[in-house]
Amino acid sequence: MSIPKEKIEEVRDRASIVQVVNEYVPLTKRGHNHVGLCPFHSEKTPSFTVNEEKKIFYCFGCNATGNVITFLMKKDGLAFPEAVRALASRYGITINESKRDVPDEREQIYAALRAASEYFSGMLKASAGDPAKEYLKSRGLTGELAKRFHIGYAPNKWDGLLNFLKGRGISVEAALKAGLLVKKDKGPGHYDRFRNRVIFPITDVRGRIIGFGGRAMDDKSLPKYLNSPESPVFKKGETLFGLAQAKEAVSKEGYVLVVEGYFDLVALHRHGFLNSVATMGTALTTDHIRTLKGYTSSIYALFDSDDAGKKAALRGLNLFLNEDISCRAVLLSQGKDPDEFLKLAGPDALREAIVDAPTLMEFYLSTLRSKVNMTAPEGKKKYFEDALSYLSKIGNLAERGHYATIVASTLGIGVDSVYDALKGASSGSLKVKSGFQVKSLPELTLLRVIMKHPELYNPEVEAAFEAFTDGELKTAAKAVAALCREGLPVSGPALLERVEGEALKGAMAELLFKEMDGFVEEPARMVQDSLKSILNRGKIKPSTQDMVKLLEQMGKSDIAVELQKRIDAGPSGKRH
Ligand code: UTP
Ligand code: MN
Repeated sequence: MSIPKEKIEEVRDRASIVQVVNEYVPLTKRGHNHVGLCPFHSEKTPSFTVNEEKKIFYCFGCNATGNVITFLMKKDGLAFPEAVRALASRYGITINESKRDVPDEREQIYAALRAASEYFSGMLKASAGDPAKEYLKSRGLTGELAKRFHIGYAPNKWDGLLNFLKGRGISVEAALKAGLLVKKDKGPGHYDRFRNRVIFPITDVRGRIIGFGGRAMDDKSLPKYLNSPESPVFKKGETLFGLAQAKEAVSKEGYVLVVEGYFDLVALHRHGFLNSVATMGTALTTDHIRTLKGYTSSIYALFDSDDAGKKAALRGLNLFLNEDISCRAVLLSQGKDPDEFLKLAGPDALREAIVDAPTLMEFYLSTLRSKVNMTAPEGKKKYFEDALSYLSKIGNLAERGHYATIVASTLGIGVDSVYDALKGASSGSLKVKSGFQVKSLPELTLLRVIMKHPELYNPEVEAAFEAFTDGELKTAAKAVAALCREGLPVSGPALLERVEGEALKGAMAELLFKEMDGFVEEPARMVQDSLKSILNRGKIKPSTQDMVKLLEQMGKSDIAVELQKRIDAGPSGKRH
């Protein structure tokens, strides 16, 4: 079942990380490295760096780092073994799985979901699906759209899918794990989870089915929507409905529209807004935002005009500030959701709303303003305090200035007053760029030189590593020491595997790339210098008074007396 360790290493070493990354992010060669725009955060100047010799990537902007395998996992949403297999087959490496083994759990679940989707779409086409076809038509869905989203129908039976899956050789166990069947409460046996519903297959970015959403065909049945439960392949908070269909349009348009409902998403597609995705009823999560960041740095969230819509918009604000990505609130003035808005106001009205969309922060500030009594000092104070708490989270100075100006003019005060207040309110809360927060320069220097020149590693260096006072640097040094001791090359992936935690990995990767800039000129001397300051710092420098005492104890009282005289005469000895 599991892939042998040597095979994983072979794949990692033989695959060209530059070639693989280049398919997702156009790279250009710069020195030893290849650079491009980071796919994991939004940026306009490239700080995403890939190095073929070290076999790692590193982003100087967001500190994302990893090797070719973890890159594929992040970009394609693959599990570790899937990424390894994909690379192995691409680079002609055969992985001998132990015997003709059973496909793993995830593969079985995918197979069950694929079969179920075939069943549902077959049922929609069959005459049993006529009521569903009627329903879809009544909601404005064309056959073309139904095809694009592989929409299906679960007939009003308890064992339709159950029997179909049996015929396909899908095990009950896999179907249960996929959430397609439910165990009977009483007695043995199982029944279909989805009955008498229009079915929306939910896919991952690559278009693999990971779950289903089923809409009842009237508005009385409860629940209105029934979704697959979470499974090893379906995580609701990470999934965006329609992303597989939208990703190209998102990249092309440069922004993405986000809604909450299945039918909202389909309606957007019908009106030509192909760069749209849906969250399936939940608010946007950090995971959603990170997924979207791979395709665009600009998110337009569509919100209903009612209070709930406003609240949802504001809840998202913190998330976006933390993720450093642009989000605008598209406010819909009619209808209860985007589907109804399009029906009532049409696509041109939506295009206008998109052009007029304020940033979430602007929207927040205007909502805040309308909530307090701006003619009373208490109201102004509240507005100022709340606004400052958000302003202080904005790292970019130009952006901050934009909002500071709005706050100042709303209050009728000078913008400098806003900056002054921010200085007091925000110090410390500003995001600190990660990497090592260096507390000891000699420690950092020693680590960097040894990483570049492992041949200089010796017992003295080992002792100095042990004596490191900076916790992070010490963990990093341990990993370096382990490789040196084992006589292994201090290479990127090997090192990154030996430290835990994203922050530390990022800091290590930063070092790996930085040390290439040729800063190490006289490595041996640099090692000696840093060793001296690290190993000697524990020793207390004797004071002059200690020296006097010591001289007396040694029977050198004449020298002691002379020394004492000089001490009394003051530092230069020339005082009169
Ligand atoms: P809404 O209740 O706003 O419904 O749910 P809707 O999208 O307008 O549905 P229609 O137009 O009546 O068909 C928004 C989204 O919340 C999730 C679904 O993803 C839905 O699209 N939801 C809603 C559920 O998962 N279960 C429910 O019972 C209701
Ligand atoms: Mn609706």
